[in-house]
Amino acid sequence: MAQTIVVGNFKGGVGKTKVSVMVSWELAYERNKKVLLVDMDPQGNASTLIARSTGVPEINTSIFDGFKNGSLKECIVEVTDNLHMIPAQVSFKNLPKFLYQNVKEEIDQVSYLKKLLDPIRDDYDYIFIDVPPTISDFSDNAMMASDYVLIILQAQELSLEGAETYVKYLQFMADNYDANIQVVGVLPVLLRPGGRVDMSTIERATEIFGEDNVMKSVIKHLERLKAWDITGITNNDQHDKKAHRVFLDVVDEMVEKLDHFEEAGKYE
Ligand SMILES: Nc1ncnc2c1ncn2[C@@H]1O[C@H](COP(=O)(O)OP(=O)(O)O)[C@@H](O)[C@H]1O
Ligand SMILES: [Mg+2]
Repeated sequence: MAQTIVVGNFKGGVGKTKVSVMVSWELAYERNKKVLLVDMDPQGNASTLIARSTGVPEINTSIFDGFKNGSLKECIVEVTDNLHMIPAQVSFKNLPKFLYQNVKEEIDQVSYLKKLLDPIRDDYDYIFIDVPPTISDFSDNAMMASDYVLIILQAQELSLEGAETYVKYLQFMADNYDANIQVVGVLPVLLRPGGRVDMSTIERATEIFGEDNVMKSVIKHLERLKAWDITGITNNDQHDKKAHRVFLDVVDEMVEKLDHFEEAGKYE
């Protein structure tokens, strides 16, 4: 059964989509895992990046069709044997309207994605969900459907804002809907060029999230990662290899943590 992970932070432009895509990519291509990447963002940035990188023809399915039909099976794009994705299109912005018109109970509205994923969880080792930065039906559905959250920490910003809000909201979801989601790690990301990790931010994050939760791996600022938005993900030269290495380190650390949680869970 897949472990389902949402990449979270209530802020835009902090690297959520890049992390969701690259972690899925490395697990599928370099660690031989079966991965499903679910695009819950109507902007469809994750879908576009995967399509551009793999040359899958124009994507004409959308996760919204799955919501309307009550099954996600028909909207899965099989990029490779190991990497599948469920793409999003802009029309998916109407999800809130759809939920209010078609689903009566509030708990069923926020649990809709969870219900749709349940029949396909056995087909994968990992399911990653990329979400928009707003507190919305999109993020609520992603949280309810996930076992774990990988929290993005802006490690240069002297502020834990997006990450802290996320944790408060996790608590809200647990209190109101019995959401059962565990923090798998807090991942420092460097957004600006030439910067280094601000240690006071890391220290504060350690106080808030606990020492074990702040990851040793750090996503550096790499121009190549930005370039991939245009060229697609490549693996040709030293800059490519360096960029892949960064995410392989994240993946290996995360898998170790996940295995540890699963082991511990067995004896609860
Ligand atoms: N580590 C990084 N180094 C350089 N650019 C990055 C890095 N991570 C993300 N970016 C770029 O920053 C922008 C925002 O990243 P994105 O993953 O879309 O953020 P979010 O999903 O949180 O809005 C994109 O142009 C992306 O290519
Ligand atoms: Mg995004």
